[in-house]
Amino acid sequence: MSGIKTLGQFIIEKQADFSYAKGELSRLLRDIGIAAKIVNREVNKAGLVDILGDAGTVNIQGEGQKKLDIFANTQFISALTSGGECCIVATEEEDEFVPIDSPVSKNAKYIVCIDPLDGSSNIDVNVAVGTIFSIYRRKSTDGMATIADVLQKGTEQVAAGYVIYGSSTMLVYTTGKGVNGFTLDPSIGEFCLSHPDLKMPEDGSIYSINEGNYVHFPKGVKKYIKYAQVHDAATNRPYTSRYIGSMVADIHRNLIKGGIYIYPTTASSPNGKLRLLYECNPMAFIVEQAGGFASDGFKRILEIEPVELHQRSSIFIGSKKMVRMAEQMMTEFA
Ligand code: AHG
Ligand code: MN
Ligand code: MN
Ligand code: MN
Repeated sequence: MSGIKTLGQFIIEKQADFSYAKGELSRLLRDIGIAAKIVNREVNKAGLVDILGDAGTVNIQGEGQKKLDIFANTQFISALTSGGECCIVATEEEDEFVPIDSPVSKNAKYIVCIDPLDGSSNIDVNVAVGTIFSIYRRKSTDGMATIADVLQKGTEQVAAGYVIYGSSTMLVYTTGKGVNGFTLDPSIGEFCLSHPDLKMPEDGSIYSINEGNYVHFPKGVKKYIKYAQVHDAATNRPYTSRYIGSMVADIHRNLIKGGIYIYPTTASSPNGKLRLLYECNPMAFIVEQAGGFASDGFKRILEIEPVELHQRSSIFIGSKKMVRMAEQMMTEFA
């Protein structure tokens, strides 16, 4: 086994870093890894079994659910229920948070917020999709955990991660001490450490935004796009435009290569489209831990006080210098 470090081995090795509930958090991360492998198996054979296409239902976000959205949601809830370390799961796909009311879970110490399947529009066309998760410590000390335990600021996260089901499947996570990436080796069915201590370039030359919505963007975003397209050899412009339409895949690429991902407010989504608890906060925690930055255009994502479960936010996330420049334009052209 020399040379290979599995996710399970790595988690145990690092649990000395946690100041609180060491074993429980390790087991929780392990449970998420197991559910991710099950989802990966289905995503991989999606064209062969009856799991592509619409489920015919609409979620609280007003989005048509895909069969795989529902499958992934069920798998993660079930893994977190049987693991017993989590007292609440809050998910993009359920109207209300899901209390895990089993004798073992009732007093469990952790809350999980999850986007079970990110990039729904890419499922049916064999393009990378993902899973995003965020873990908080329960604040209340007795009885069933409540909504107040869920509505914590991003700075309170104890761990966050994503899985990308791409040309290879990777799990990337942080517990606040840097970011590590694991690639699934299908021959042994294990996530193996492949990207230790991931660092994001401070500057980059990729910008990722759904430019089709240009006409509806705030002025600062329009100015930033024009800035990105100007020729200037000293700053490596014009930048390259790359947009997959799966937040996980777009940010994963930019994390490795350097770049900025923007989903701003638009005329039809005045609060932005992406969800603070399931998408913005976990990705912001990971990116900051890798040396990048995440803003809503004016302030740090991780410091936004959540007031509701499915709250949305605009997001500017990626290489620090690029995000700072975009923020500057948002302020200047507000
Ligand atoms: P989800 O599939 O979890 O609902 O998330 C979709 C999100 C995100 O993954 C992606 O970056 C963005 O929506 C794409 O939106 P547009 O199609 O509006 O560009
Ligand atoms: Mn969705
Ligand atoms: Mn998503
Ligand atoms: Mn989703």
